Amino acid sequence: MPLPKAELHLHIEGTLEPELAFTLAHRNNITLPYTTVDELRAAYEFTDLQSFLNLYYALTDVLRTEADFTDLTRAYLTRAAAQGVRHAEIFFDPQAHTARGIPLDTVIGGITAALDTAQADHGISTHLIMCFLRDRPAAEAMDTLNAARPHLDRIIGVGLDSAEVGHPPNDFAQVFAAARDLGLRLVAHAGEEGPPDYIRQALDLGVERIDHGIRCLEDPDLVARLAAERTPLTVCPMSNVRLRAVDTMADHPLPALMDAGLLVTVNSDDPAYFGGYVDDNYRALAHHLHLTPEQLRTLARNSFEASFLPADRIKELT
Ligand code: ADE
Ligand code: ZN
Repeated sequence: MPLPKAELHLHIEGTLEPELAFTLAHRNNITLPYTTVDELRAAYEFTDLQSFLNLYYALTDVLRTEADFTDLTRAYLTRAAAQGVRHAEIFFDPQAHTARGIPLDTVIGGITAALDTAQADHGISTHLIMCFLRDRPAAEAMDTLNAARPHLDRIIGVGLDSAEVGHPPNDFAQVFAAARDLGLRLVAHAGEEGPPDYIRQALDLGVERIDHGIRCLEDPDLVARLAAERTPLTVCPMSNVRLRAVDTMADHPLPALMDAGLLVTVNSDDPAYFGGYVDDNYRALAHHLHLTPEQLRTLARNSFEASFLPADRIKELT
């Protein structure tokens, strides 16, 4: 039985398995530039974050209707349940869809229809986090935040993702301040490929959790700050290996992050693309880095502690 855990770093678009991509392409009369599932899966070979993002955004084209987003989210929840997930804080990238002419209502309506039955179907509680694409203009992020106002009862927070290097958190200071004024929680990808200073900038914007954050280890003062503030890191080991932020799983800095006293969590990022869901990440760490059962339990406990669940619910789950 997999350990009960929360998943805090999961892009719903990154759960699009090749089989579902073909099903949705067929349903929507779209011809993919691949003829078979195996051929598509063979394209899941990446050299860096951008090489992955190119395929990730190209395949979002199959997501057209509310039902498509519901089916995608249901498929993730079914897999998550089998991996021991009891609570999921799920990212979505509205601009990846609105830029293609898909209305925001369709995206949020489709995803939330699946979230609405997750507790009854799988015993999984859920939160939804809306990410801004940092390689698009900050003004567009602000427009996206404003467009989402009618849906804010369904969105717990905002995040920042997509191509990191050259797109520092400070560029999004205004939109993050506006989101905070609306009562939204703040997270941001930082220190995946980008330098430690991007993590510092994110903290200075009031971000409560750092997504990835592995490059903090290059800056001892930053590590001390993250430890003192107990800022969680949502680390994604299989993603880091597949996107070549880390050479091999045996080289992954997760044990060093834990040893530094940081609140480390383990997550899957884009599991359809990186070869495994969240418990597969725990198992890869256990196997290649010889984590002890006690360390794995600590990581699972951290995942609830780092969540945006209320304190009494965290207590029940840990
Ligand atoms: N979007 C989806 N996955 C991502 C990642 N690992 N980093 C940045 N943006 C992303
Ligand atoms: Zn991510």
